[in-house]
Amino acid sequence: MSERVVIVGGTSGIGLATAELLRDRGYGVVVAGRSADRLESALKLLGEGVEGRTLDAGDEEQLAAFFGETGPFDHLVVTVSPRGGITPLLELTGAELRRHSEGKLIPQLLTVKAALPTLRADGSVTLLGAVSSQLSGAGLAVLGSSNAAVETAARILAAELAPRRVNAVSPGVIDTPWWDWVPEEGRGDVVAGACSGTPMGRPGRPEEVAHAIGFLVENTYTTGIVLPVDGGARLAS
Ligand SMILES: NC(=O)c1ccc[n+]([C@@H]2O[C@H](COP(=O)([O-])OP(=O)(O)OC[C@H]3O[C@@H](n4cnc5c(N)ncnc54)[C@H](OP(=O)(O)O)[C@@H]3O)[C@@H](O)[C@H]2O)c1
Repeated sequence: MSERVVIVGGTSGIGLATAELLRDRGYGVVVAGRSADRLESALKLLGEGVEGRTLDAGDEEQLAAFFGETGPFDHLVVTVSPRGGITPLLELTGAELRRHSEGKLIPQLLTVKAALPTLRADGSVTLLGAVSSQLSGAGLAVLGSSNAAVETAARILAAELAPRRVNAVSPGVIDTPWWDWVPEEGRGDVVAGACSGTPMGRPGRPEEVAHAIGFLVENTYTTGIVLPVDGGARLAS
């Protein structure tokens, strides 16, 4: 029987590209996200055999019901995050700070906890941070610290949850709907500007991050790492 992977956040962007990659490699794939519309579009794209359910990963009751219905599985990938958040400190509100911790660290950790009863004892967990954890540009305090928290948690959980493997991927600027918070007119320039001066000088494609997630799912001796897939953005001055 094929191995099963649950991708929370698999209805858009990097999670959706990961669902396509792992489906093509023969995995049984389950995707989840909050929006029923996004889920429906993703399932249409992914085709027959891929399962999906709506889920708010910040809600513990929904998580328990979701994993109860999903049943035993082998690998967990969690790509959830709120969109936006590049905000200079003087414009930062408490609500924006809370939106980021409630939208990223909390649902990612609650998802891992809720998955444990049904996740294979030597299966894998892959979380998503971001290169902002390594940068010091003005306006990145919320995004950077929120992603640093996820990346640190992955390292600690690798020790705590062994023999399950736990890793994180740390993407740079990736061309996905995450950037929808930028008005459509001019979005291309903002995305291009965000990666100008980096060694690769272009945004990444969601498939390029999915490729790295596939490695972390499959490499049975890799645990506790944060794998950058950022076109070298962490090296830019
Ligand atoms: N794109 C980039 O440039 C970039 C760069 C660095 C890091 N990353 C990180 O990579 C990860 C994936 O990003 P992406 O670009 O693929 O973003 P995306 O296109 O916005 O996808 C995010 C996915 O997470 C789901 N989601 C969000 N909150 C959720 C919740 N509480 N419960 C369940 N599902 C939830 C969304 O669906 P619903 O909204 O319907 O729930 C969507 O399927 C994120 O952690 C992001 O921070 C992205």
